[in-house]
Amino acid sequence: MKVVKTLAEWHVVRESMDDSVGFVPTMGALHAGHAALLERSVRENRYTVLSIYVNPTQFNNADDLDNYPCTLEADLKLAADLGVHAVLLPRYQEIYPDGFRFRVDETDFSHTLCGAHRPGHFTGVLTVVMKLFNIVRPRRAYFGEKDHQQLTLIRDMARAFFLPVDVVSVPTVRDSDGLALSSRNLRLSPDARRLAPTFSRLLASAAADAEIAQALIDQGFTVDYVETINGRRYGAVVMACGDHTVRLIDNVPAPEPGFARAS
Ligand code: PAF
Repeated sequence: MKVVKTLAEWHVVRESMDDSVGFVPTMGALHAGHAALLERSVRENRYTVLSIYVNPTQFNNADDLDNYPCTLEADLKLAADLGVHAVLLPRYQEIYPDGFRFRVDETDFSHTLCGAHRPGHFTGVLTVVMKLFNIVRPRRAYFGEKDHQQLTLIRDMARAFFLPVDVVSVPTVRDSDGLALSSRNLRLSPDARRLAPTFSRLLASAAADAEIAQALIDQGFTVDYVETINGRRYGAVVMACGDHTVRLIDNVPAPEPGFARAS
């Protein structure tokens, strides 16, 4: 497995590959959800490229960026074990030689849900993904359904700009108690970790969005939103963890309305 830190080096590695390139862009702190993306890519492409880049332009909260978990050694071991061919670890100066002067700006869906609570977040995501697609030139790129709004926006961007890449979605991987895997789960306090699966459980219940939001508040969560759009229920909550907070997101196919209470 090649570990590549400069774009000059990367372009040489890319020349040694043909068109069958699968790409998994990440911000590191890899978990079983990322492993599922990598495994799928390894199955479906001759070459799999992983990028690890904590993209500052998508963070609207300096504390979140400063404390984003970093587990590089373990990430590289996992990637090698899964059969990844190359890992790209680019630096800010090479990704943003323009200082973020040029941006990919979506004007509709990106302003709802997470976008309404994290101004500029999706402009940062779409811009870096466009740059990474142009650098890596993958045939397929893999994204988890846990970040369903991100997945939808990236798929729409690829269509809108006629990018020659298939955006492949991979189901959310959950812990045995139902909590969706996320790198940020590493920052949950023991108490918050015990309570966190209640978020996923309530989101999947048959109650109405407003009832679920109230039930989450009653359990001690701060609710950013619980909203059903296009047959999917999306939610985001913030959990207090001593001296810091952790924001969790999740989504499920909208359950059929029924009589179940959000308790
Ligand atoms: O989902 C992520 O880890 C990031 O948003 C992504 C797609 C790697 C862009 O920085």
